[in-house]
Amino acid sequence: MDGVPKALTIAGSDPSGGAGIQADLKTFTALGVYGMSAITSITVQNTKGVLYRKDLPGQVVYDQIKAVAQDLGVDSAKTGMLGNADIVLNTAKAVKDFKIDRLVVDTVLKSKSGFNLIEEEAVQTLLRELFPLALLITPNIPEAEFLCGEKIQKLRDIELCAKKLLDMGPRAVLIKGGHMEGEKVIDVLYTGGEEFHYFVGDRVKTKNTHGTGCTLSASITAFLAKGYEFYEAISRAKIYTQKAIENSLNIGHGAGPLKHYWNVERCAEDF
Ligand SMILES: Nc1ncnc2c1ncn2[C@@H]1O[C@H](COP(=O)(O)OP(=O)(O)OP(=O)(O)O)[C@@H](O)[C@H]1O
Ligand SMILES: [Mg+2]
Repeated sequence: MDGVPKALTIAGSDPSGGAGIQADLKTFTALGVYGMSAITSITVQNTKGVLYRKDLPGQVVYDQIKAVAQDLGVDSAKTGMLGNADIVLNTAKAVKDFKIDRLVVDTVLKSKSGFNLIEEEAVQTLLRELFPLALLITPNIPEAEFLCGEKIQKLRDIELCAKKLLDMGPRAVLIKGGHMEGEKVIDVLYTGGEEFHYFVGDRVKTKNTHGTGCTLSASITAFLAKGYEFYEAISRAKIYTQKAIENSLNIGHGAGPLKHYWNVERCAEDF
């Protein structure tokens, strides 16, 4: 990896700028990584919810990945919203063809407001085609419940589900605890064997959590692009995301966005 680290997001567009490729590119920039994007879908959404999505043809997604991989090179990549099976298949093909081996798969299924961000029949394709290519998958609690087919109520349920998900092919599983209750937020990392690792943070009391998942997976991807091993990349990403939530912005009429640039504010004052 010579020169500036380069990260690619393969995800949907969020015009409100709090999630999707916009959040990912802001995160990459805040962390000093050159950001690139392959857009899978245009969504119509704001802080109040998702209204509509228009998926791009899978071939167009493949061609975007090819264009940047062959020209600039990709040190690490993440996937977010993939929309349908055609996009999943083309993404998996591109990841293989261009040998992207530091891949974070954020298992985006539905928006917070319940809008489908991937066709239900495409989920099997996601598991079969993309999970085995992933260094890490990052389901939230509802996604973990759906993928494991079981209700999650306590930490032990998360651990059992993480084991099941690891058997589906990724090299590591991080189940995020944002949707659980309690003063602490616990994300559980599983890489095999009998040990689990817990990332424990203070739960920020805020409604402004639009794009927390995108921001976490993008920041992990950024640190991977910089050459950190994945455990260290997750630890650093957790700190970055926690601060972005603590400084989240009370804008819009629903769940406001995170402050992705909490660590680079001085740049703005310099000019
Ligand atoms: N209120 C909070 N305070 C502190 N950390 C939080 C809070 N909510 C979420 N997190 C952290 O943010 C990250 C994303 O978790 P979350 O469970 O919200 O993902 P998600 O549901 O996929 O997000 P999104 O709705 O953006 O897709 C995790 O590391 C989680 O621990
Ligand atoms: Mg999410």
